[in-house]
Amino acid sequence: MTAPIDLRSDTVTRPSPGMRRAMAEAEVGDDVLDGDPTTRRLEARVAELLGHEAAVFFPSGTQANQTGIGVSVGRGEELVLEAGAHLFHYEMGALGALWGVQPRLVPAPDGILTAALVEGALRPASPHVPRTGGIAVENTHNAAGGTVTPVAMLREIRALADRHDLPLHIDGARLWNAAAALGVAPAAIAALGTTVMVSFSKGLGCPVGSCLAGSRERMGAARVLRKRLGGGMRQSGVLTAACLYALEHELPRIADDHAAAQALAAALADHPHVRVQSPATNIVMLDLTRHAAEDAIRRLADAGVLVVPFSPTRLRAVTHLDVTVEQAASAGAVIARTLA
Ligand SMILES: Cc1ncc(COP(=O)(O)O)c(C=O)c1O
Repeated sequence: MTAPIDLRSDTVTRPSPGMRRAMAEAEVGDDVLDGDPTTRRLEARVAELLGHEAAVFFPSGTQANQTGIGVSVGRGEELVLEAGAHLFHYEMGALGALWGVQPRLVPAPDGILTAALVEGALRPASPHVPRTGGIAVENTHNAAGGTVTPVAMLREIRALADRHDLPLHIDGARLWNAAAALGVAPAAIAALGTTVMVSFSKGLGCPVGSCLAGSRERMGAARVLRKRLGGGMRQSGVLTAACLYALEHELPRIADDHAAAQALAAALADHPHVRVQSPATNIVMLDLTRHAAEDAIRRLADAGVLVVPFSPTRLRAVTHLDVTVEQAASAGAVIARTLA
């Protein structure tokens, strides 16, 4: 039997032989003691790529995201973010548990916040209500189906943040996808954040790794919080060599994942029991009008296609480095047949 087409997430990719070689040959040092040369190189490269003064390497996107909030938002303050945000739903309650930050959730169509929506959630100065301490935007937005916040809208949110002297954090776990979809350099999006998180373990094939970028001063504070969270790593060059490899070899092809998502969605257009929207990037949401998600997932797995549930009637399929456009089209055909 052939291996299943695994569309559960863009985190399932495995390091390529070239990436493994780069990891094996990495020059390393003790990054907590006095710096790992490969990690320093990655941090400098990422800072430049994202248009910020400095960057810090983290073991996960969650730790980098949370540190981004931890360096900017105070205890008892509110963070304004979209209602489906990863920071709120999928980080184990860390905003409250770690920082005492109160999420102020704002539902937005397609997960795309506007300055007007954010402005409506800002608190007036008052002895009765919490102070607004920051704004967060997720670009692309995972739970909304890989949707993209355009640069102009992000600029308006940044201008609003500046008017109110608020930090803006960008959860850019898939910022690479957003940049490719918009046809802009990553910095065109990332530089608009006070802090920005990017991931290497999604879509780029790395086994682990994220970076947080921002001002030199904030990234100094981020290193302290990272250590406190147990994220100080020693010979991290073995990991960051993979990230440097990915920036050079995998990032240039990331738009292929969007073409694959389109091919998958096209195979399901006009399906009697599946509603699919044209994907903006590499995430395809499938709304089932006849099947329960769990049942559909079992049947699709038997037919050789792996996806995950997103609600009792919604499936998520994600294209990535290890799935070709042809395989994605073929997965779409399998889904169409299986759920017919
Ligand atoms: C939008 C978004 N932010 C943050 C994360 C967290 O990344 P990690 O799984 O590396 O902690 C994810 C992971 O899927 C994500 O999709």
